[in-house]
Amino acid sequence: MKTIISFLIMLMFTSASAQDKQVFTKITEGDQLIYLLASPSLKGDISLEETINSRRSRRSFAPDGVTDVHLSQILWSAYGVTKPSTNPQRSGLRSAPSAGARYPLEIYAVVGNVPGIEPGVYKYDAIQHRIIRVIAADVRKELTSAALNQKMVADAPFSVFYSAIYSRITDRYGDRGRDRYVCMDLGHSAQNVYLQAEALKLGTCAIGAFNDEMVKAVMLLPENEVPLYIMPIGKVK
Ligand SMILES: Cc1cc2nc3c(=O)[nH]c(=O)nc-3n(C[C@H](O)[C@H](O)[C@H](O)COP(=O)(O)O)c2cc1C
Repeated sequence: MKTIISFLIMLMFTSASAQDKQVFTKITEGDQLIYLLASPSLKGDISLEETINSRRSRRSFAPDGVTDVHLSQILWSAYGVTKPSTNPQRSGLRSAPSAGARYPLEIYAVVGNVPGIEPGVYKYDAIQHRIIRVIAADVRKELTSAALNQKMVADAPFSVFYSAIYSRITDRYGDRGRDRYVCMDLGHSAQNVYLQAEALKLGTCAIGAFNDEMVKAVMLLPENEVPLYIMPIGKVK
């Protein structure tokens, strides 16, 4: 009897840990492919101080070794909701500060080789912590050409891509919002990505040098979105 009970307890724990490994759920809504991402981890292996000390721009990446858990954690660190609002019309507060809490940034994951996630371009929906596919193809090579052939974009398993909708900020702050606040917001969020990548033993590099028109075409960006940064993410070679 004792053996049967221990076996049942063991089985319970086995299935619980197997369930924990189910880090995202793939669903379709109409013809939209959506991945509900894993809850972020609030504990890391190295201290914030060590992370700041070791952060560097990394430009040489292995073609694999990045998981969906990494992707989920990095998107959350970039712009995830850390204090949800009780008002369903509002997003709540995020991992990065934003002037007037206007959150002008749009964040995409350009996925090439992340096991379990189909290659393509996905928009990050921070409020529901999920990604929604907007392009069903691996566009890393095309994005590399648009980024003045900076090869790290093609090599990295995925990139975080930033654009901004300026009117969210200029509506309230006018020129000051355009000239200062949008890029200040971007810097805060991108630094989180740098530090989170480092803490996950991955690397990244902020890329601001690219051809805007080519990037917009590759990413199929709506007219009101301005491309700002590409941040390839990968295991450093
Ligand atoms: C606004 C901005 C744009 C950048 N654009 C590029 C880029 O296009 N390509 C690149 O290799 N590095 C780019 N970088 C990374 C810088 O070259 C890097 O931060 C700098 O050399 C300092 O090195 P560190 O980040 O390792 O401290 C950019 C950094 C910033 C802040």
